[in-house]
Amino acid sequence: MASLAAVCLLLLAVATVAVTASDDKIYVHIVPHTHDDVGWLKTVDEYFYGANNSIQHAGVQYILDTVVDELQKNPNRTFIYVEMAFFVRWWNEQTDETKQIVRKLVTETRQLEFINAGWCMNDEAATDYNAIIDQMSIGLRFVEENFGPSARPRVGWHIDPFGHSSQMASIHSQLGMDGFFFARIDYDDKNQRLSDKTMEMVWQSSQSLGAAGDIFTGVLYYFYGPPPGFCFDVRCSDQPIQDDPKLFGYNVDGRVASFVKAAQEQAAHYASNHIMFTMGSDFNYENALEWYKNLDKLVHYVNKKMGDQVEVFYSTPSRYLDALNKLNLTWTTKTDDFFPYADNPHSFWTGIYTFSIYRFYL
Ligand SMILES: *[C@@H]1O[C@H](CO)[C@@H](O)[C@H](O)[C@H]1NC(C)=O
Ligand SMILES: *[C@@H]1O[C@H](CO)[C@@H](O)[C@H](O)[C@H]1NC(C)=O
Ligand SMILES: *[C@@H]1O[C@H](CO)[C@@H](O)[C@H](O)[C@H]1NC(C)=O
Repeated sequence: MASLAAVCLLLLAVATVAVTASDDKIYVHIVPHTHDDVGWLKTVDEYFYGANNSIQHAGVQYILDTVVDELQKNPNRTFIYVEMAFFVRWWNEQTDETKQIVRKLVTETRQLEFINAGWCMNDEAATDYNAIIDQMSIGLRFVEENFGPSARPRVGWHIDPFGHSSQMASIHSQLGMDGFFFARIDYDDKNQRLSDKTMEMVWQSSQSLGAAGDIFTGVLYYFYGPPPGFCFDVRCSDQPIQDDPKLFGYNVDGRVASFVKAAQEQAAHYASNHIMFTMGSDFNYENALEWYKNLDKLVHYVNKKMGDQVEVFYSTPSRYLDALNKLNLTWTTKTDDFFPYADNPHSFWTGIYTFSIYRFYL
């Protein structure tokens, strides 16, 4: 009896240690993405084909071409796509064979996810709700008709609009989205939320609808880009992962250490031990090989060398939401809007709505 009790105690002790250790671990969701403005410095068609690149180097057709190629090379790799104005232009040019491959990536392996999936990522301050519903409907209907109900987006993804309206949150909730993520909120509000660990919350967006307007809402950390030093795009100049010790510039240990540091820094400001790293930015992945080759290596080496502290894996915002949901946490709530948007003292992005957006960028 005595020895049995001792064994039980020992097992209990081991179990407790295991639970504590796994609770301390940081889980890093790698979210490969591109942010493709549906018209900005060039026209939509110029952006699609990569025309007039002297104005801005950007060609969305190459992003979709190379991402689809790269996803097939490793079933762990994921990608999210947002702006249906570009996706539809691309889809219309594909052969039946490519369409079959893409359908499989979306509905079977689920490596490619449509997120948000309106025609564009609409502004929230100056737009009328009728126009928002129309533009969301056009994109979502395309997804439904070509990929079926299982491809329906579960996440609102407004990483670039200049402030956020409770009306938009309410529309996303009513569209059936499980969560809403964005980057641009007032700098004071963001600082407060970073120190309170309230970057994520439940937005009670509608006074009239009550709970039907509630939506889980998250503010992203590094704006919508990767942690400093980890942009592996043709548009960036960060160092690749150089992993042959016989060659000049071997840097695996240093890169793993700074990745772990970035993960710890971000996790210190969020309520759970799961965090998202947004690996991408404006018109990234024109040559998707460059991103994925380095991300594969990063995932491999961080897990191999620091896996007891930081676990990294390819993910999507919906998979991230599922992970948070399993943790059963309680979130703070938010009512009202995220307006006006100021990114610095005396830097309110409000004149943009009374002046011309074009002049703003000149
Ligand atoms: C864009 O390219 C077209 C075709 O070459 C040219 O006619 C047009 O002037 C260019 N636009 C700008 C703003 O450079
Ligand atoms: C995919 O992920 C699993 C689990 O982390 C890993 O064991 C496997 O090696 C990965 N596959 C590739 C091709 O990287
Ligand atoms: C989550 O919380 C609910 C309500 O407090 C509880 O009934 C349930 O058992 C919890 N689930 C887990 C996995 O902890």
